[in-house]
Amino acid sequence: MDFNKPRYTPMSRRRRIYEGKAKVLYEGPEPGTLIQHFKDDATAFNAKKHEVIEGKGVLNNRISEYLFQRLNDIGVPTHFIRRLNMREQLIREVEIIPLSVAVRNVAAGSLAKRLGIEEGTQLPRSIIEFYYKNDQLSHPMVSEEHITAFGWATPQEIDDIMALAIRVNDFLCGLFLGVGIRLVDFKMECGRLWENDLMRVVVADEISPDSCRLWDIKSNDKLDKDRFRRDLGGLLEAYTDVAKRLGIMSENERPQGTGPVLVKG
Ligand code: TMP
Ligand code: ASP
Repeated sequence: MDFNKPRYTPMSRRRRIYEGKAKVLYEGPEPGTLIQHFKDDATAFNAKKHEVIEGKGVLNNRISEYLFQRLNDIGVPTHFIRRLNMREQLIREVEIIPLSVAVRNVAAGSLAKRLGIEEGTQLPRSIIEFYYKNDQLSHPMVSEEHITAFGWATPQEIDDIMALAIRVNDFLCGLFLGVGIRLVDFKMECGRLWENDLMRVVVADEISPDSCRLWDIKSNDKLDKDRFRRDLGGLLEAYTDVAKRLGIMSENERPQGTGPVLVKG
């Protein structure tokens, strides 16, 4: 056997490490790595609403690859190594901190509802919120007090997470603005990455139209998962539009999964 050749592991024989609502994590080709596989499943309201939207996983894999690569390029540490194929990317194995970090620039979604602020209102400054990642509890919002008291993250880690969140937000706001999109809000997750005896907090999971609110700067059209949450239709077209504007999909590539179109006449 030639040990210099990369070993090919058929999909079915790969060890599944974790399955979430929209992604599966498999064992990676070498220690300390994992393969992140993007599924076509769309869920909302803690998976009470569920649909399979053929091609969504492919688009999110591409968009998340692009955004994580840009973040790596400017020195924001992330788990991302490289995209492997249409649905999968190679990532560093990290210990996920059990928090969803929401960063908001414009009032929308649960903030607008909770505080009675009209959707679309520019916030006086960016707001960072923490949610405890627990499906049984439907991801409750928590404060730094809860996070440190229950040991989900240390005060130092919270500082690191907030510094990362601000950098990611500033960078993504500019990047999206450049292609005519307003970054209303987004959710990110962080993980602990060990390098020898040193631990660093890095950006993990995905950043895609599933985890952001993206509005067209002129029309305010929604180009994100609210199209599914609010039954607006046209999710694939919106995600494809985002990919095209970011320059990661050629103009004549059609959205995945729409199938052949019958030309009448
Ligand atoms: P929210 O307004 O519903 O709290 O959402 C804030 C941001 O977080 C929005 O960009 C959508 C994103 N998000 C997720 O990625 N996953 C979730 O489970 C939820 C509730 C929101
Ligand atoms: N992904 C979440 C769920 O299934 C909710 C959301 O994104 O709105 O519940």
